Amino acid sequence: MKTMNVGLIGYKFMGKAHSNAWRNSPLFFDMNIKPVMKVVCGRHAEAVQAFADRWGWEEIETDWKKVIARDDIDIIDISVPQHLHHTIAMEALKAGKHVFCEKPLAMNLTQAKEMAALAAKSGKVNYVNHNYRRCPAVQLAKQMIDEGKIGTIFHWRGAYLQDWIVDPDFPLTWHLQADRAGMGPQGDLNSHSLDLARFLIGDVASVNCMTANFITERVLPDEAASGTFSGTAGDTGKKGKVTVEDAAFMTVRFKNGALGSFETTRFAPGRKNYNYFEIYGSKGSLVFNLERMNELQYFNREDPDYQQGFKTILVTEGVHKYISAWWPAGHIIGYEHEFHHAVVDFMDAIDKGIDIRPNFEDGMKELEILEAGLKSAAEGREISI
Ligand SMILES: NC(=O)c1ccc[n+]([C@@H]2O[C@H](COP(=O)([O-])OP(=O)(O)OC[C@H]3O[C@@H](n4cnc5c(N)ncnc54)[C@H](O)[C@@H]3O)[C@@H](O)[C@H]2O)c1
Repeated sequence: MKTMNVGLIGYKFMGKAHSNAWRNSPLFFDMNIKPVMKVVCGRHAEAVQAFADRWGWEEIETDWKKVIARDDIDIIDISVPQHLHHTIAMEALKAGKHVFCEKPLAMNLTQAKEMAALAAKSGKVNYVNHNYRRCPAVQLAKQMIDEGKIGTIFHWRGAYLQDWIVDPDFPLTWHLQADRAGMGPQGDLNSHSLDLARFLIGDVASVNCMTANFITERVLPDEAASGTFSGTAGDTGKKGKVTVEDAAFMTVRFKNGALGSFETTRFAPGRKNYNYFEIYGSKGSLVFNLERMNELQYFNREDPDYQQGFKTILVTEGVHKYISAWWPAGHIIGYEHEFHHAVVDFMDAIDKGIDIRPNFEDGMKELEILEAGLKSAAEGREISI
């Protein structure tokens, strides 16, 4: 089997999810090119080595530039905070690597435009990891929309809610600093919802948005000890300003005339990772909730009156996308499987010399909408895209 070497940069939350996928995808899926876990990179050698030993990376590195400079690395996986995406991706593309990049693509539209332009010119496979697109139930929603089952779409109603910073003692991790995260949940979470909406409904024509900040100052954490959702480690006793929004509620008009709403916050107690959407059309409706990710709710207006109601489709049949590689019907899959599906499609795109979506162009279009949303909130008016 043909192989290609992967260099992973960043080894905490996403580094772990990606390592799992690079490692196990070839065991479940028939892949023409097998990814080889060649080198993992992070700033602290001892911690990176422990990660490499645990997950099976062959080598470690503490300087990402050295990973890119290696001739034997074919794929760069960017699993670091947003402020590094642009520099690393640009260098990687210039060096002729395929790039698998975490979302949001960049800090802002200016960076994203440069990345999308270079990616298109490079002819290399470029991908932004909006993993939820590769949930089988989301793929089924797309199939049903394309088959006309929902008819003309009127509404998208999306929510992506979390609660991990409600505690005022939660420290100022990189996610809450504009110079490292670019945006708050608008970039972090609404980017995912927007990707799903662009996939399922289409492009956006204009946006209106409101944002809020509930806690404006927090303690600075010990960087070495903190990662996503584990920021309480290593309080330094110093304080800094929160420079991104805590919540963003955005409404959009899609180019096809549908209306959409996107709610996102990290201040919704009890909502841990509540990624939810509803789609309403002339023939019926679809509802998805990540907490029940193996299911798709479907309402069919053409059912006889006495039978009308939402039905639950258990999306675990062999005919559902990706499922036949996993388990028999009814043997549910989870969050980590979406990452495997992304890796499989990414390697397939390299093998066939085709595109994978969402690519850097999609990531750029998303940032255009997200940024317009924040501008709308600041200026109190609707912004055209
Ligand atoms: N697809 C998803 O659902 C999803 C979920 C969470 C995060 N993300 C995205 O993934 C990216 C990483 O987020 P995370 O939650 O894994 O963050 P994290 O804080 O858990 O991990 C960040 C990693 O980056 C490393 N890093 C930071 N600066 C570095 C440098 N200069 N050189 C090398 N390594 C460096 C850190 O050591 C750490 O390993 C972000 O862009 C985030 O938006 C995506």
